[in-house]
Formats: sequence, C-alpha cells, structure tokens
Amino acid sequence: MKIVIGADHGGFELKEYVKKYCQDKGVIVQDLGTYSAESCDYPLIADKVAEAVQQGQAEFGILICGTGIGISIAANRHKGIRAALLYNDAVAALAREHNNANIAVFGARTQNRDDVIRYLDIFLQTPFSNGERHCRRIAELG
Ligand code: RB5
Repeated sequence: MKIVIGADHGGFELKEYVKKYCQDKGVIVQDLGTYSAESCDYPLIADKVAEAVQQGQAEFGILICGTGIGISIAANRHKGIRAALLYNDAVAALAREHNNANIAVFGARTQNRDDVIRYLDIFLQTPFSNGERHCRRIAELG
C-alpha cells in the first residue's frame, strides 16, 4: 500500500510519528511536508496531499494540523476528495464503509498518539461497503 502524508507545523511532530509507524508496517509513505516545526499554512499542504490522491499517486492520504479542522476544510475543496476527521473507532470504520473517505485527518493538539494510530489502522483496514445508497450519495457530491 502507498499513502501520502502531510501536516502543517501544528501537526509536524505527529506526522513524523505516524510516518514511522506506517513505514515500520511496510507501507510506502510519500511525505509532502512540512519538514520542520516552523510555521506554515495548512491549505498549501492540504492541496499537495489532495492533488496526489486525486491523481492516483497513492491509495490514501493522511493530513494533520492542530485541530484537524482547517486542513479538512482545505482538502475537501478538491473534487473527488473525501477527507474525514477521525475521532473514535466507529467513525474511523464508518468513514470508509459509508463515505469511502480517501484521506484520514487528525488533530495533533486535540488527539493522543495511541488513539490516532488505532483510528488509522481501522481506517486503512476497512473497505468501502459499496452499498447502493452510499454510492448514490457519494455520486451526489459531484
Ligand atoms: C495553526 O496554528 C493551526 O491554526 C492549525 O494547525 C489548525 O489547527 C487549523 O485548523
């Protein structure tokens, strides 16, 4: 599996942690920045990860900012991108089963590392249900 990952300065440390976790599991990870804790703008990072997923460069994306909110808003402006802020086990599964989410989002200032890793594992292991109503609703997103 290949994923692309990105974070602003607020998510930089958690990004490094998540990246290493994924690499240790054998996942190919493309890191699209930011590459230090120096302040940067989350929309620019969201654009890079969203475009990589749109273009099929990776199966999934991961985005992290302070709360996960700004970077979700930015990513979801891209056609075909369904970025989901994962905040419990059920949501991590439902984001895949019902929404066919293609980017997992986390808030580094609002979530702990163990929870983030657990949500990410659930997200990556859960297939889209392909249910008729879910396909219809996703198609309605345009
Ligand atoms: C950066 O300070 C912070 O605003 C950003 O990481 C994020 O939380 C925005 O939604």
